[in-house]
Amino acid sequence: MGERPSVKIAHSSGSYEVLFASFSEAVDALPGDAFVVTDRNVAKLWRVDGLASHAVVPGEISKSVDTWKDILEWLADSGACRRSTVVALGGGVVGDLAGFVASAYMRGIPAIQIPTSLLAMVDSSVGGKVGIDLPQGKNLVGAFHPPTAVWICLETLSTLPQREFINGVSEVVKYGFILDPALQERLAKERLASGSVDLEQIVRRCVELKAEIVSQDEFETTGQRAILNFGHTVGHALERVTGYGPLLHGEAVAVGMLVEARLGQSLGITSADTVSEVERTLRTQGLPISHPSLHETGEMLKAMAVDKKATKGRLAFSLLTGVGQCKLVQDVPSESVEAVLRAC
Ligand SMILES: NC(=O)c1ccc[n+]([C@@H]2O[C@H](COP(=O)([O-])OP(=O)(O)OC[C@H]3O[C@@H](n4cnc5c(N)ncnc54)[C@H](O)[C@@H]3O)[C@@H](O)[C@H]2O)c1
Ligand SMILES: [Zn+2]
Repeated sequence: MGERPSVKIAHSSGSYEVLFASFSEAVDALPGDAFVVTDRNVAKLWRVDGLASHAVVPGEISKSVDTWKDILEWLADSGACRRSTVVALGGGVVGDLAGFVASAYMRGIPAIQIPTSLLAMVDSSVGGKVGIDLPQGKNLVGAFHPPTAVWICLETLSTLPQREFINGVSEVVKYGFILDPALQERLAKERLASGSVDLEQIVRRCVELKAEIVSQDEFETTGQRAILNFGHTVGHALERVTGYGPLLHGEAVAVGMLVEARLGQSLGITSADTVSEVERTLRTQGLPISHPSLHETGEMLKAMAVDKKATKGRLAFSLLTGVGQCKLVQDVPSESVEAVLRAC
């Protein structure tokens, strides 16, 4: 275990480690008083024997008040106490849901994350944001509740459906473009796969990058964390306009990254070469680069106006100033966005 370097993440009330280990090592290290929350897909594939566990219906539908309440009641019925630990074993849905349960049960008990999707490993399990959806919108209820440890067991990716894996690659591509030219160069060359020899190094790098940004802006107050939203202003709008069905989050973000690169170009911030590089990398990784709903410009702009980075209807974007660098640009005129969407 010792040869695999961990990443230490500091936050306002302490710190935690992101550890790389085999699944059995992670399970062996769990406290005896742990309560495992997982989903029914993951429960079948990655078993944790000897601990209480609760499996929810897979998918975003489980990030609901009802499921959250069910888990809280299960903890209470099972005798969980202040010293008990909630273990989130699954993708980002389970991580957000179980983390939010841990943040509330008895005013907050420890949570350990064992992310099993690539997206959860490189993004959602790190940073302390947890929460659930309301019918009115995604992630409308939540908390900042950092885990006490994150165990990354890359072998769990061997059972992740290919489309879900590529979905996570989209966030990896994002880190390369906004923060790390070397990572970007690697991703432009060859498709990342669950069997790639450099997968561990790449996942670790993404965790380090996210940790660095999050530590500068733990509670999303300085704007630093908003650079992680490259591709997301358009991506979230596209998810909303397409009805949260046909496109996975990472797929919508991939399309969003290319649109936002072009937006940067139209504003004189992003070079044509950088835009080409975004397109080439997305193609290499098997990610989508366009979607017909981009042309529903009225709907897209309306959806973007409710994006959390838009203040009083004015749009903000994380735009590329080069490969591996970006800046947050406020007050982007909606006419500029509309012109780029029309040209897509
Ligand atoms: N908290 C944050 O900072 C943050 C950041 C990004 C995303 N998120 C949230 O993450 C969620 C998306 O996460 P996701 O993409 O992991 O979705 P998910 O949790 O729904 O997992 C995707 C699918 O893969 C299955 N799965 C997961 N691991 C598997 C494995 N090892 N083998 C086989 N099947 C497996 C799941 O059952 C599910 O069907 C969204 O709700 C999003 O809001 C949160
Ligand atoms: Zn994302």
